[in-house]
Amino acid sequence: MSAPATSAPVQSSRRAFDVAAIRRQFPILERLSRGKQLIYLDNAATSQKPDAVIAALDHYYRAGNSNIHRGVYQLSEEATLAWEAARQRAGHFIGAPSSDEIVFVRGTTEAINLVASSFVRPRATATSVVLVTAMEHHANIVPWQLAGASTKAIPISGDGVLDLEAAERMLAERPILLAVAHVSNAIGTVNPVAELCRMAARHGVPVLVDGAQAAPHFAIDVQALGCDFYCFSSHKVFGPTGIGVLWGRSELLDGMPPYQGGGDMIDEVTFERTTFAPVPRRFEAGTPHIAGAVGLDAALGWFEAIDRDAAVRYEETLRDHATNVLGTIPGVRLFGAGAEKAPIATFTLDGVHPHDLASLLDGDGICVRAGHHCTQPLHRALGVPATVRASFAIYNTTAEIDALGDSVIRARTIMGR
Ligand code: ALA
Repeated sequence: MSAPATSAPVQSSRRAFDVAAIRRQFPILERLSRGKQLIYLDNAATSQKPDAVIAALDHYYRAGNSNIHRGVYQLSEEATLAWEAARQRAGHFIGAPSSDEIVFVRGTTEAINLVASSFVRPRATATSVVLVTAMEHHANIVPWQLAGASTKAIPISGDGVLDLEAAERMLAERPILLAVAHVSNAIGTVNPVAELCRMAARHGVPVLVDGAQAAPHFAIDVQALGCDFYCFSSHKVFGPTGIGVLWGRSELLDGMPPYQGGGDMIDEVTFERTTFAPVPRRFEAGTPHIAGAVGLDAALGWFEAIDRDAAVRYEETLRDHATNVLGTIPGVRLFGAGAEKAPIATFTLDGVHPHDLASLLDGDGICVRAGHHCTQPLHRALGVPATVRASFAIYNTTAEIDALGDSVIRARTIMGR
């Protein structure tokens, strides 16, 4: 089976979104998988990369590679400027008041571990609680436990929507932090983060937002959200793996001890004691992923240059099309039905294990993810051990979703359901 590479541009009273033009910039989309046209629907795990990002990485290694900060020669100065330009771009991307509040990390997981080590651990007592939600990724649960806090979760409805009354009650118990996903990686629920931040502020509770699954989809403004920390990963937003961003309010970051020791994060070192560099360098020990920052800068620049409003509307079309296509297949159960939902379709097929279904889809060149998606507590709440997840990006098409539906129907027949 092969799907047409593109669908007709989605028309509306506003500007059309030209998905064919977007797709032409992603060379990997031309390849085959299992001898079939690749249909990549695992974007919540990682996104594909446009030519602009591939070219920026290529150029950096061909003509710009050097270590940053310490060199006095031109090549090092240029690399340092590129690193700092990426910081500016990342700050702008999420509406940070100052790029000095942008810390480069390996990704969202490391950002959360940094806050766990440097913000929660020094404050944690035997009774400290970090309040999370029942839909959190393990990366937004385990680091708090490792830092000495216990975790309590705001419950969700069967539709995968947060119980805000419970949130208010649990915030009144004064946890040391509320840590919440902007968008659920497993079921796509968009959480009412601004409202949660207002609630948390009334109880004097700081808020960390895991933006890993929001950054690839809609515009982010940390000041409008009213959060204290926000983090996202480059590789989910069309950039390279191995780099991500932690934003924190300077009042908090400035008071936090270093996360790791090493070069670049110091002010002065003696054998008796060491003093530390100001933020953000205090948190950036060792030679960082400079090429990654160059690639992230290119990715965010590329993304910001497209019509973001049209892209959001286009992704809503993909989400709704997937719900319609999968929802009409007998035996398919869809998860996550909140009104605010990112383009993620999570489902099971009666009598077919999610891994078997994903393997059958793979035979048709379709990449989806099966399992618990690093959200075991969520799957326990949903009452299933595993699900299949198709997650969409701006280069996906309704034709690809039709192909997914056809493949699920074929799998159902093969499995005798
Ligand atoms: N956290 C990523 C996912 O949801 C890897 O697939």
